[in-house]
Parts: sequence; C-alpha cells; structure tokens
Amino acid sequence: MTRRAVITGTGSALPSRRVDNDEMAKIVDTSDEWIRERSGIRTRYFASEGETTSSLATAAARKAIEAAGIDPCSIDLIVLGTTTPDQTFPATATTVQAALGCNGGMAFDVQAVCSGFLYALGTADAMIRSGMASKALVIGAETMSRLLDFSDRGTCVLFGDGAGAIVLEARESDDPEAPGVLATKLHADGAHNQLLYVDGGPSTSDNVGKLRMTGNAVFKHAVTNLSDVLREVLELSGTEAAQIDWVVPHQANARIIEGTAKKLGLPMDRVIMTVDQHANTSAASVPLALDAAVRDGRIKPGQLIVLEAMGGGFTWGASLIRI
Ligand code: UT7
Repeated sequence: MTRRAVITGTGSALPSRRVDNDEMAKIVDTSDEWIRERSGIRTRYFASEGETTSSLATAAARKAIEAAGIDPCSIDLIVLGTTTPDQTFPATATTVQAALGCNGGMAFDVQAVCSGFLYALGTADAMIRSGMASKALVIGAETMSRLLDFSDRGTCVLFGDGAGAIVLEARESDDPEAPGVLATKLHADGAHNQLLYVDGGPSTSDNVGKLRMTGNAVFKHAVTNLSDVLREVLELSGTEAAQIDWVVPHQANARIIEGTAKKLGLPMDRVIMTVDQHANTSAASVPLALDAAVRDGRIKPGQLIVLEAMGGGFTWGASLIRI
C-alpha cells in the first residue's frame, strides 16, 4: 500500500474592496490599457482596515474544511505560505489554528514568496507520506498591498490580496490511478534575490519595507524556470504533457502563463487563468485559482493537474496531483 496525500477540500477568500485599473490610474501614472496589455490584470482586491492575512487565511480554511467535511479538531498540521504575516512572530499559522479552535497539532509558516503555497504543499505532502501528519491544512495567504509602494507604478499595479486553502488527507491505496500528490519539485537560486525583494525587515531596519522588483528581468527567468520545473515534475512521475488535464499556474502575468504553456506545447484551454480578476496575490495565487476551477466544475475528480509558481528568492516549483 502506498500512502499518499489527497486533496479533499479547497477554499478561498478575497478582501471586500475590489480595485480596477482605472482606480489605479488615479494613484499612479498608468492606464487600464497598459496594465491589461503588459500583465492581463483588470482588477485586484485590497485588504481594508481589520482585514489581515490571518483573517483571509481563516476564511479560506473554513471553506476548505467545509468542502472536505472534516472536524477542524482532527487537523494535525497547518502549513501557511505567506510573505506578509500578521506579525514577525508568532507564525500566522498559529493565529489561524486558534481561530479555528483546533489547537495541539503542528502549525508554522513557510516563506518562499510567490512559491509559498508550492513550498507549503511540498512540506505537508512529505510530512503526510512520512507518517508525521495525517490531516493537513495547506494555505497560501497574503496582504501584499501592505508591502506596496503606491508611488512605484512598476509594482503597485501588479499585486493584490487574498487567500486559498486546501485540506490534504492521508490515504492508502495500491491503485496507481488513485488520487494524491504524485510528484513535487522545488528550487531556489539566491543569486537573484536582488531582482525581487522587500527593502526592510526585523534584522535590517525598523520597518517592514516595501516591495522592489526589476520586472523585465524577473519575467525572463520566470518563463525558463517554470517550463523547466514543469518538465522535471512530469519526468519524475513518468507523465507526458499531453496527459495533463489542467495547469494551475502562479497568476503573475498572463504573458508568462502563455509563454510557459507554449514552451510545453499545452493549449491555453487547459490552463486556469485568474490573473485578470485577482492580479498577483503571491502565495495565495495558486490556491485561489485552484479553488475557482474546482468550484466552477472545470477541475473534476480523477483529473491530472499540475500546479506551478515562481517568486522572490528566486524560488520556484511545481507539483503534479491526481484530484
Ligand atoms: O510573482 C513574482 C514574479 N513576478 C513576476 O513574474 C512579474 C514579472 N514581470 C512582469 O510581469 C513584467 O515585466 C511587467 C508587467 C512588470 C512589466 O512589463 P514589461 O513588458 O517587462 O515592461 P518594462 O518593465 O520593460 O517597462 C516598459 C515601460 C517602461 O517605460 P520605458 O522605460 O520603456 O519608457 C516603464 O517605465 O513601461 C513603463 N511602465 C509603465 N507604464 C505605464 C512600467 N510600469 C508601468 C505602468 N504603467 N504601471
């Protein structure tokens, strides 16, 4: 029998304030046309006062728990991918745990910026397969707006806030077609960390800093790294690109998503695209897109999906999953 981590529920949450490109054009020298053509973004959501990374994460988690039909008290692991924690410490995962009233299991954050959800998923999958955990909540949640410099048009129009969550449960099966996480590959290359970073933090300054990005350099690395890691994860599991039902990519830029799909010969009608509605929500982007496609019925049980993301660090990764 093989022990696998199976997705049994998904959920997501967005802040109440929706901001379109015309509203961004009142803040910085930009236009709806420029933002749409260069990134594919039409709207994003910004957290208002009182909305936090943990409140969005908790709302997404509650929906995933409801979809899975489990008792929150049976969760023995919470891994939360975020680059915008409520506080430097404690981990936002522990705040979510307390809000859910499921204390006692493991709870921690992982910080891999836009790849945060893939890193959280890889960690939870490994812990489930090793027997350290049996029911996990994996969350990607961000309030990126709190890190944005609203005088920098090259970055502030690209990001948004939100959260997505999944419940991962241990299941044993001999069937090679059984659902579960089949393969995950994660990478980092710290040599590029000055291309996408925050210029502050507890060990270097007395503030949390603002996001800085050399967008066109990140763009070039993104298409190459993402197509390479997708190939790696397919190879690891002996899967052909043609067998993939859906790609759920990190939603940073429609042109990156299209370029990556093209490199793998994957048609765009098998790619989930939510960047137009949510913009780049960093670690939340993949689980937000996944939940949208599960709930609207595009992603169905038995299908083969691949998740991928790339972000600051650089970090990047992909995960192949039978739903
Ligand atoms: O999630 C982590 C990963 N992040 C990403 O994947 C983001 C990757 N990068 C990108 O998505 C794209 O590089 C951007 C959308 C950020 C920019 O697109 P680009 O085609 O690479 O444009 P660019 O940075 O080369 O800038 C082109 C021009 C510049 O003007 P000049 O120097 O050619 O006169 C910019 O000043 O566009 C200008 N520009 C803007 N114009 C209007 C930059 N931002 C804006 C703006 N509105 N918001």
